[in-house]
Amino acid sequence: METILVTGGAGYIGSHTVVELLNAGYGVVIVDNLVNSNIAVLPRIETICGKSPVFVNADVRDPLAMAAVFSDHAIDAVIHFAGLKAVGESVEQPIRYYENNVHGTMVLCQAMADAGVFKLVFSSSATVYGPDAPVPYVETMALGQPSSPYGASKAVVERILADLCVSDSRWAIAALRYFNPIGAHESGLIGEDPKGIPNNLMPFIARVAVGKLAELAIFGDDYETPDGTCQRDYLHVVDLAEGHCQSLLALEKPGLHAFNLGTGQGVSVLDMVKAFETVTGQAVPYKIAPRRSGDLPAFWANADKAKRELNWVAGRTLEQMMADTWRWQSGNPDGFAEG
Ligand code: NAD
Ligand code: WQD
Repeated sequence: METILVTGGAGYIGSHTVVELLNAGYGVVIVDNLVNSNIAVLPRIETICGKSPVFVNADVRDPLAMAAVFSDHAIDAVIHFAGLKAVGESVEQPIRYYENNVHGTMVLCQAMADAGVFKLVFSSSATVYGPDAPVPYVETMALGQPSSPYGASKAVVERILADLCVSDSRWAIAALRYFNPIGAHESGLIGEDPKGIPNNLMPFIARVAVGKLAELAIFGDDYETPDGTCQRDYLHVVDLAEGHCQSLLALEKPGLHAFNLGTGQGVSVLDMVKAFETVTGQAVPYKIAPRRSGDLPAFWANADKAKRELNWVAGRTLEQMMADTWRWQSGNPDGFAEG
């Protein structure tokens, strides 16, 4: 049985990936410092899978702690989710973001090399294409100039990973460029649980529907898109989790391999609201508000490479994404705080 180290495995995408890994028969060791997650996710994972990951409360920037993880466990590959992800916060706190996301990855990679582990899957983002890239985004495009420190941290890490692969041909790395993951595990036991007021559309809609927020502000309806609101490529988080399992299989090939993980479809903010209302029967009051600084009008993935090389497609429908989001939010109005 192969054992996978999952950094950030207590978080939103990490916890869903841990479930898929355990169900696929992998052993899992999570390293997470719980800066943006809750320990209560662990018994939920055990309920879903009937088995548990090993949990280590540590920071990926701590070289001694990381060395201990690799000496205590026979790790075969690493999936690296640990990082900070709030775009607006990264503009206010750039050093904290570069320090966590870039330095954290460097410490992890050094610990891997010291332990002789050279297989890595990295959480990258569609934001690495930058604001000027034509849609749909395709992996053959050069990295752009992301407008936030958060986005730049992902592009810098991709560059570092490419340099690592040049330096030593034992490295086999997948940079998975996620589009907009939403939804929750169909059990309703785990899901996205942002602290405070959500920055992202789907958790904001869910909290309006459950009565925790009064109304959604739609940021701009005067974009050059079919209904004037922005379009994004929303994919189900369980599809995304499956994409990580598929990408592990591709790590037989040395070098850095980038993959877009998205559906290939752009969906507008208004369409998201309508789909949520239709599927759940819940009203989502909204108002049109000014544009949010830094938002791009529309982008979505060309996901052909992941289909071709990973045998992966984001197959779950928008209706499933909405139903699963609502099952999670309505069953856990206070998220993991309920334990
Ligand atoms: P999340 O915040 O729910 O998960 C990240 C986890 O990493 C959290 O559990 C947090 O406690 C942990 N963490 C952060 N810094 C750490 C550190 N220094 N040491 C140990 N643990 C640490 O976020 P998520 O949505 O699950 O995102 C996971 C990864 O995917 C992130 O790297 C994020 O940038 C990337 N990503 C997310 C999205 C998205 O829309 N959610 C899109 C593209 C890329
Ligand atoms: C989606 C759409 C908003 C909230 C961000 C990061 C990106 C990636 C995913 C990590 C936009 C609109 C939102 C609200 C709204 N993360 N919106 N009212 O901005 O596409 O991507 O998360 O890598 O890097 O930038 O996602 O969910 O914030 O917004 O109208 O209250 O919903 O304007 O059009 P975004 P989002």
